Amino acid sequence: MELKAGQVAVVTGAASGIGLAMARRFAAEGLKVVLADVEEGALEKAAGRLREDGAVVHARVVDVGEREEVFALAEETYGKFGAVHVLCNNAGVGSGAEGRMWEHDPNDWKWAFAVNVWGVFHGIQAFVPRMLAAGEPGHIVNTSSGDGGIAPLPTASVYAVTKAAVVTMTESLYAHLKAEHARVGASVLFPGPHMLRTGLWESHRNRPDRYAKQKPRRTPYRSLDQWEAAMKEAGKDVRFTPVEDVAELVVDGVRADRFWLLPESEHSDRQIRARSQSMLDRADPAYLENFILD
Ligand SMILES: NC(=O)c1ccc[n+]([C@@H]2O[C@H](COP(=O)([O-])OP(=O)(O)OC[C@H]3O[C@@H](n4cnc5c(N)ncnc54)[C@H](O)[C@@H]3O)[C@@H](O)[C@H]2O)c1
Repeated sequence: MELKAGQVAVVTGAASGIGLAMARRFAAEGLKVVLADVEEGALEKAAGRLREDGAVVHARVVDVGEREEVFALAEETYGKFGAVHVLCNNAGVGSGAEGRMWEHDPNDWKWAFAVNVWGVFHGIQAFVPRMLAAGEPGHIVNTSSGDGGIAPLPTASVYAVTKAAVVTMTESLYAHLKAEHARVGASVLFPGPHMLRTGLWESHRNRPDRYAKQKPRRTPYRSLDQWEAAMKEAGKDVRFTPVEDVAELVVDGVRADRFWLLPESEHSDRQIRARSQSMLDRADPAYLENFILD
């Protein structure tokens, strides 16, 4: 679709990281931006900074895992701006699950599913009918991850399961929109190709009491800085993709109506081939056997 000044973009998880970068990029294109996030302080700061840069911004505290909060976001957005052209269902969390799957705390699964899967579904249900009814061009971008979206990292398996669901949900959404000959498109985003310096490693900062861990963690949470230091000490090269590059990929993809927002990467391509080939060959998933699982 064509992006034009005065259109409206709604971004969830917009107080930090990739969401904030997408909101900033849409604002730079002249779109009005609606920032939705569960973390109030960070949300206010993000909205303030965008306003200082001249953007038209509306911010609302929303827990995307709560259906009525996402519907209230849609109601408020349409009340204030009268339209939505771009919806980025981007809010996501790392689950904090440890150890083997059969030992996981069920609340790790419930929380990650509430945000990463139900959050995207709530966005689709609250906004898409109104976007279709408006009859204007529109686009939905759902944030997945190479972890799960392509193949699971067995060390982050809950997260991987949720991000696989985001790919399948977006493929289904695409098919349903096409069946309706809608002027609304859909894309699935794989941020990368490298690591991103965002708040994802500190997802537990936003974990609500209703999904609190039922047993304490065996090991403390590791920060991104600690992980990076450990990798460097082990002589491994750590590369980061700037969040601005992800935002650029999204804007280009929306303009081109591209479904797979998957950056060029030999590593991703190898994973895709290995997984597809194992399925085509009816062979065991050998690509999952070389992980160091503590
Ligand atoms: N950082 C990476 O390496 C990476 C890689 C692939 C995919 N992703 C995905 O990108 C998206 C953005 O993550 P990020 O890396 O920018 O992390 P981030 O922590 O910087 O940003 C995520 C935002 O989502 C918000 N959020 C968390 N729970 C929420 C809820 N229930 N309702 C509303 N907002 C909520 C957080 O407050 C935060 O502002 C996520 O879906 C994540 O899974 C990240």
